[in-house]
Amino acid sequence: MSALPFSQACENNKSFILEVLRDAFADRLGVLEIGAGTGQHATYLAERMPWLTWQPTDVAENLLLLNPRCAEYTGDNLLPPLALDVCDDPWPVAVPDAVFTANSLHIMPFSSVQKLFAMLGRAAPEGAVLAVYGPFNYNGRYTSDSNARFDQWLAQQNPQSAIRHFESVDELAGAAGFTLRADNAMPANNRLLVWQRTAVE
Ligand SMILES: C[S@@+](CC[C@H](N)C(=O)[O-])C[C@H]1O[C@@H](n2cnc3c(N)ncnc32)[C@H](O)[C@@H]1O
Repeated sequence: MSALPFSQACENNKSFILEVLRDAFADRLGVLEIGAGTGQHATYLAERMPWLTWQPTDVAENLLLLNPRCAEYTGDNLLPPLALDVCDDPWPVAVPDAVFTANSLHIMPFSSVQKLFAMLGRAAPEGAVLAVYGPFNYNGRYTSDSNARFDQWLAQQNPQSAIRHFESVDELAGAAGFTLRADNAMPANNRLLVWQRTAVE
């Protein structure tokens, strides 16, 4: 039996993410996944949306976690994982017509979140769809006690990690030419935010 890197949270949320992305990515060709972690989302979602070519990426030091599960994928629409840090300039791969990231914005420093959107503003094609899953605050408030506790725990792990404010992230998206298309409530007080690039400089 193989002991692949495993995240219980991914296991719990992947089917709900699929339900949203099936529509949001229905007419997309390629997906760039940022901060792909264990590869559970990449393999599960690529298998169930076979019209997409899925490019999983993560920071170089995380590829040891990401590679094994991707290597076991038997379909032909998952590309080998690539090292990509959102702070890289330029990014090592072209941005396709869809981008997905889960549970990464609250882990990376806010300065990296800013760089992520700045790079998308430079590199994403017009019409690109961006889907971001994770917890968010609204109107300066946590949406649940469990998110408040989670934020405290995050701060103990790394003072630069924090649940992001929806309004701040939407402002970055807007500055990068993205318009919010949907804000989906997800289980466990998470959201799946979907933007589309409507303006290209
Ligand atoms: C909590 S894990 C989430 C992993 C996976 N997406 C999931 O939902 O289980 C956060 C991920 O963000 C990635 N990450 C952190 N900083 C990053 C950066 N600067 N550029 C790209 N990925 C980053 C981490 O390596 C890690 O894979």
